[in-house]
Amino acid sequence: MFKLESKISVNSADYKENKAAMQEAVGVLKERLASVKKGGPDYMHKKHKDRGKFFVRERLRLLLDPDTPFLELNALAAWDMYDNRHPSAAIITGIGVVHNREVMVIAHDATVKGGTYVPETIRKHIRAQEIAMENRLPCIYLVDSGGIFLPLQVGTFPDRFHFGRIFFNQAHMSAENIPQISVVMGFCTAGGAYQPAMSDEVVIVKGVGTIYIGGPPLVKVATGEVVSEEDLGGADVHCRISGVADHYALNDEHAIEITRNIVENLGEQLKYPLARKEPEEPAYDPSELYGIIPKDLKKTFDMREIIARIVDRSEFHEFKELYGLTIVCGFARIMGYPVGILANNGVLFSESSQKGAHFVTMCAIRKIPLLFIQNITGFIVGKRYEHQGIAKDGAKLVHAVANAQVPKFTVIIGGSYGAGNYGMCGRAYDPRLLWMWPTARICVMGGEQAAGVLTDIKVRALTKKGTKPTAQQIEEIRRPILAKYENESSAYFSTARLWDDGIVDPLDTRQLLGLAIAMSLNAPIPDHKFGVFRM
Ligand code: COA
Repeated sequence: MFKLESKISVNSADYKENKAAMQEAVGVLKERLASVKKGGPDYMHKKHKDRGKFFVRERLRLLLDPDTPFLELNALAAWDMYDNRHPSAAIITGIGVVHNREVMVIAHDATVKGGTYVPETIRKHIRAQEIAMENRLPCIYLVDSGGIFLPLQVGTFPDRFHFGRIFFNQAHMSAENIPQISVVMGFCTAGGAYQPAMSDEVVIVKGVGTIYIGGPPLVKVATGEVVSEEDLGGADVHCRISGVADHYALNDEHAIEITRNIVENLGEQLKYPLARKEPEEPAYDPSELYGIIPKDLKKTFDMREIIARIVDRSEFHEFKELYGLTIVCGFARIMGYPVGILANNGVLFSESSQKGAHFVTMCAIRKIPLLFIQNITGFIVGKRYEHQGIAKDGAKLVHAVANAQVPKFTVIIGGSYGAGNYGMCGRAYDPRLLWMWPTARICVMGGEQAAGVLTDIKVRALTKKGTKPTAQQIEEIRRPILAKYENESSAYFSTARLWDDGIVDPLDTRQLLGLAIAMSLNAPIPDHKFGVFRM
């Protein structure tokens, strides 16, 4: 393979300005991540400790093999929502390694509102389960939760992808032989009681773990019976009398030890034999990524400069280098694994869309994982292009991406606008994981364009009614729309609502992709299957 030729000058004013802007953005990201990692308020920490319980991150540290990476998901879920009183949406999810096997961990943080579920907690829990299903990862639930956050029952209880879906997913995964293991390390009330009850194996901690459909106050109101938490649904009840739990743990540490033993006895997991080579570092310094992404996302840059700092030895076997120039396609290796890469170098035209579709089908047939690097304003518009059939050519790319059965991964490093998001494997196209860089933006269209369109519609409506707005009135219509779009297109707005799997430091991208490809190989890669391409 050929080594990519970089044309970046690290001494240019642009490079320095870009680098400073990205350093600042990464600084903000790290501050925010550190703030949510603290969990709930001090008084809840004290209460938790006084009960003899370990904090959620201590539990994770004990559970996972020493010195192995934990690929945390959606750390900033619910960011800037509910007055920031539900950091990380009260739940930690991520992919870790137990006895050399990749597992999905879903762990409540009881210091955050008793580990209760706001809508984003449910989305996060279900997203982690979806990743486990697609990649065949055993699920370990460290349960310590009061169930639904009752003031928000409207957004949490009745709908298809609300609380009930968690247990539905457990049943389906169990049927697919994707092990479901619950470790009850605190309260497990009402709907939450089904989490262990729906698991293949359950560990419960003496004195702190409880499972019941209705707690003592509810029992008293409903039947008049007075009963303690322990007598209603503690470890002795469930291990000796009801059989709801299988393993009796003396404390948190013991429970984790038992859980590790359970994983050790799950049977052998064969991975898809994707031909891997010895990983080699990129030839160009990955820290230069900071200076390449323009501070002003409207400025163009060559995606090959990004690829050169992510792939092994900066080597890239480019496909159709001289055709459909606004999309870069080619083969490379990341941490030794083969990948097919599609990256944007401008608006998608008919030729670039067809080139992308051609490349995706090749990777699907050859069973090579796909990486999409997004910086896309959309498909080209205008009479000439409509006449050329941009709609059907764009559809070819969207069709190929939707049906490609290989593991797909998406990183949004710049803009992600309009149907370009779909053609480049946005969330709706089931990438196994999707990350954003801190300065990336995602929206149906750019703020300026949206404000222009909406203002135009309002001005025309007013003019029809006989009122011709002044320039100042037009500006008053435009400004709030622009401000709203600016706010709603930030990476933080997206990640808070689980439209991605997390915001990441550009420097971590290569490592994360390597881990992601490795975990995806727990599932077989099916044969390709495409439908009708409109010609
Ligand atoms: N909905 C909304 N808020 C809840 C809640 C719920 N289901 N459960 C707990 N909270 C809040 C509390 O108001 C408190 O908020 P604050 O920190 O702002 O004061 C915080 O979470 C911690 O609760 P607290 O009771 O002080 O902590 P705890 O560790 O002693 O007990 C629970 C935690 C979850 C076991 C206990 O609060 C409880 O039993 N809650 C009700 C559970 C329930 O019946 N759920 C049914 C839903 S399916």
